[in-house]
Amino acid sequence: MALIEGVRVRNYRALRDVMLGKLSTGSSAAPLTPFTVVIGKNGAGKSTLFDAFGFVADCLSFDVETACDMKQRGGFERLRSLGCDEAIHFEIYYREGQGERPITYELAITLDESGRPIVESEVLKQRRKGQKHGRPHPFLRLNHGVGRVWSGEEALEAETAEEDTAHHLVELTDLRQLGIATLGTLKEHPRIKRFRDFLKGWYLSYFYPDAARGLPSAGPQKHLNSHGDNLANVVQFMEREHGDRFQAILHRIASKIPGVSSINTQVTQDKRVLLQFNDGAFQDPFFAQQMSDGTLKVFAYLLLLEDPEPPPFICIEEPENGLYHKLLGTLAREFRTHATGKKSAPQLFVTTHQPYFVDALAPEEVWILAKGEDGYSTVQRASDLEIVKNLVAEGLPLGSLWYSDYLDAG
Ligand SMILES: Nc1ncnc2c1ncn2[C@@H]1O[C@H](COP(=O)(O)OP(=O)(O)O)[C@@H](O)[C@H]1O
Ligand SMILES: [Mg+2]
Repeated sequence: MALIEGVRVRNYRALRDVMLGKLSTGSSAAPLTPFTVVIGKNGAGKSTLFDAFGFVADCLSFDVETACDMKQRGGFERLRSLGCDEAIHFEIYYREGQGERPITYELAITLDESGRPIVESEVLKQRRKGQKHGRPHPFLRLNHGVGRVWSGEEALEAETAEEDTAHHLVELTDLRQLGIATLGTLKEHPRIKRFRDFLKGWYLSYFYPDAARGLPSAGPQKHLNSHGDNLANVVQFMEREHGDRFQAILHRIASKIPGVSSINTQVTQDKRVLLQFNDGAFQDPFFAQQMSDGTLKVFAYLLLLEDPEPPPFICIEEPENGLYHKLLGTLAREFRTHATGKKSAPQLFVTTHQPYFVDALAPEEVWILAKGEDGYSTVQRASDLEIVKNLVAEGLPLGSLWYSDYLDAG
């Protein structure tokens, strides 16, 4: 399964320089786990980190200027860390599958002379075949839209300019578009294409229950969208394409939601699918429109995880909102099971500040964001805190340590 083993974000809002997991440099750090959770007090930078992933995804889907101006981002000047005039940098250290050589993607975004955001530089690099250690070499290197690309599966930049005969020169016409967006569509660059496809597949959940209560009539849709407003369409798709399997999925989901004894579907005359939640206490079922926010939300998350072709990387912000506290442990364990199960399992990245959710986690899975004295975020892995490791080994759940402030120790 594909795994982001590490990320580094620089100069993005409060994230002046944060590193999580393993990167191409500083290789002694352990990689991120398939289920990674970031905790922190208000203002620590959780939403910012979540949005950093969203921002990179938007840069690819749209362009860097549009991404800067989207939603609550408010433009490049507001995105760049205060007191800093360097480019915003992202680094993603990623492995397509076990045994594959990791790929590093570096992206820097800055302003041009007229004050518009542009891609300053972009690099994709990898170690040579058979090399487990040492420096990775670029197979894409762009600076202000001009640079070199090495095609095929193996070619990489050579040590010296004279030896470096395998590259092609590239010049992009639009500095607002990512190079991987353009080059990733070309057959001769399969590595870039795969990375682009991976990035394109990221799922950032901006689920809000009211959206999921709608009854869109557009027909079956394969995947849940980020707001969840096509929940009914996905149900329709699952019902049609995976009938038997879907019944089993509904059964499994129902068993995880307290107060729900079974979930059925009902097809209306105009072929829409209604979700019917049966509560043991009442004879008549409830429909999605009448269900509590929390129930709908858990249903949507579990359905997302049961997707036969799940997104490779799923980010969820504060899944606890609106949920009964005892459900949180179940949800955390479901997340882990799905993230570590099958070959096509998605990697899950979750932010939270709910101790009950954290109780179900292992120290390696948890990263603690905090606001440093200089106002910028700092991050630490819970397993790197000696006291936390010891207390967890003694049987104390991690969430209780978070609750009683042990996790701020560092
Ligand atoms: N451009 C910026 N430079 C530095 N800090 C910023 C910038 N923009 C926002 N911040 C700070 O980033 C912090 C992070 O907030 P946020 O990510 O929403 O935290 P959380 O989601 O953990 O509550 C806020 O305290 C805010 O003051
Ligand atoms: Mg937040």
